[in-house]
Order: sequence, then C-alpha cells, then structure tokens
Amino acid sequence: MPSSNTQEEIMEYSQLVKEAIKAKNHSYSPYSKFKVGAALLTKSGKVYLGANIENIAYSPSNCAERTAFFKAVFDGEKEFEAIAVAGGLDDDNTDYCYPCGVCRQVMLEFCDPETFKFISVKDKENYKEYFLKEIIPFGFGPGSIK
Ligand code: THU
Repeated sequence: MPSSNTQEEIMEYSQLVKEAIKAKNHSYSPYSKFKVGAALLTKSGKVYLGANIENIAYSPSNCAERTAFFKAVFDGEKEFEAIAVAGGLDDDNTDYCYPCGVCRQVMLEFCDPETFKFISVKDKENYKEYFLKEIIPFGFGPGSIK
C-alpha cells in the first residue's frame, strides 16, 4: 500500500477492488474462460462496473475496462479517478491483471495520465496501483495535438 495515499483514498480503493472482483461474475467469456471484472470510479464518486464480453468471431470481443468506460461515457461521465481490474480463469487461482493496448488507449482518451490510477488486482488484499502514464508511456492522447 503506497504510503503517500490518504486513509480515505485507501478505503475507497479497497472498496473499488472488491467491486472489480464481483464484476467478474458478469463476464461472458465462453471462449477464453478468462473472466475479467472492472470497477471505474468517476471524480464525482460514482462506480461503473464492466466485464469482458466475448464473441464467436473473436475480434468483436470487448474487454472489461472498455465495457465500464463506455457505460460511463454513455451516461455523460467524462471525468475519472481510477479503475480497478481483476481477472482470472477461476476464483482460487488469480494473478495481477493488466490491460491490453486498446484499453490503455481508451483510458488515455478520457483520463489524465498524470493523475488517473490503474489498480491491478490479484485478490481483495493484494493490488498494485499505477498512474496511467506508467502503463502507457509516450502515449498519443488528446493532449498530443494541442
Ligand atoms: N481481457 C479483459 O477484459 N481485460 C484485460 O485487462 C485483459 C484481457 C479479456 C479479453 C478476453 O475476453 C479475455 O480477457 C482473454 O484475453
């Protein structure tokens, strides 16, 4: 647990982590059998959940992160604080989960790389926090063409 976080933030993120783990239950993943759940926290304090939704043609599949972002953006949300992501083949054998390149790019569209936190979840006690800029360094985002 990073010491720079306030107690309030730590409480908030441990709750977000639990929500991401629960969101795995909504995964539709008959092909990979890899269930992923995401919990996206808006700056206004709302949480949007997502799960991966696969397709027989494979490429139309959607990751948990994008499901959560697209639900939130559809609802008019544009300001985000953090996303927690949990994934695994089964609940007893989980490891830290990291986003694909496409999801990192979607995060960069809507989030400040300096402040937005990506939280990689192993289980409810073990998770790692990263700033978006750490997981997509030298990214091409909306700020790049200003
Ligand atoms: N997946 C996610 O939903 N998020 C990630 O961060 C990594 C991968 C999904 C895509 C696919 O449905 C399954 O996990 C296996 O790749």
